[in-house]
Amino acid sequence: MNIAIFGYRGLVGQELCKRIYPLMNDKIYVYTMRSTDKLHKKLNRDIGKFRFLICCCTSSLAYQLLKITKKIRWEGYFIDASSLLRYGKTIVLDIINKQKIIQCVKEGQKIFCGGNCTVSILLTALGGIVGKLYIEKLICNTYQAISGCGRVMINNFIKQIRSIVIKEGACEYYIENKPCPRSLCFNISTWIGDKKAEEEEKICKETNSILGSDIRIYSTCVRVNVIRCHSEAVIIKLSKDISLDTFRKMIRKKYTKIVSDTPDDTKRFLNPIYVSKKKYIFVGRIRKLSPGVFSMFIVGDQLLWGAVDPLIRLYYIIRRII
Ligand code: HSE
Repeated sequence: MNIAIFGYRGLVGQELCKRIYPLMNDKIYVYTMRSTDKLHKKLNRDIGKFRFLICCCTSSLAYQLLKITKKIRWEGYFIDASSLLRYGKTIVLDIINKQKIIQCVKEGQKIFCGGNCTVSILLTALGGIVGKLYIEKLICNTYQAISGCGRVMINNFIKQIRSIVIKEGACEYYIENKPCPRSLCFNISTWIGDKKAEEEEKICKETNSILGSDIRIYSTCVRVNVIRCHSEAVIIKLSKDISLDTFRKMIRKKYTKIVSDTPDDTKRFLNPIYVSKKKYIFVGRIRKLSPGVFSMFIVGDQLLWGAVDPLIRLYYIIRRII
């Protein structure tokens, strides 16, 4: 029951290849998505070799790939990291919906998709609350890393940094002169998406889809000049009042690290550089604002938590069932 990884050269694909340990002697095959014609041929040749196909491509390439697998009536498990299938299929986040995933597998579902990275990070942080207390309202403002846009954007960003000539009398120079407003260097971008600010819509829709809920969610998503790790400032309103201590205990789970609300610990641990490549969601600045209302700041490695780890764990779940 081998695994095929499509789009293995992208940031998500590379991370997946590094982190997946095939079970029970399964082997990994890797493919690029450069030419769909060649791909069609390769798939016809290789399709019998694998039972799992993990797609780490854009939604349009994922669509092509899904179309080909349907055409050749492949019956394996298609696991997609893009947003292509998120509003029809079960969005996989085993920390929240493992039982549902198991049920879907047992009922014969073969197509699954991972959630938006920002949503997976948010819900992993809230995992201890979900199902125990009713969430009335969520405000989630994000500070998203450039790697969320892929390799090309990181390379553009590096070029922008390189093009900056360091001047004498730096402070005065940089106060007076500004780079191009679209630059991410010394800047932020307050719109994530194309025509629509899609990231904000995804946070609302996907969170409610995974939880099967109808929570009022408000969000503003911002791209900041960080290479890796998304950060989120969250305010949560619960239907019931609990103490700050109880709230903290509920957030403390297998996949979270609580950062104490002191200047030293916060500056040291609650930032994207520290959190990069860590297999935990870091949660700090936890404060009680009013009865039932709490705020916190979350930092998580979106390549791992958002994109890759939930899909790897899905493979393990399915593989142990079939
Ligand atoms: N939608 C995310 C972003 C991608 O734009 O940052 C996942 O990292």
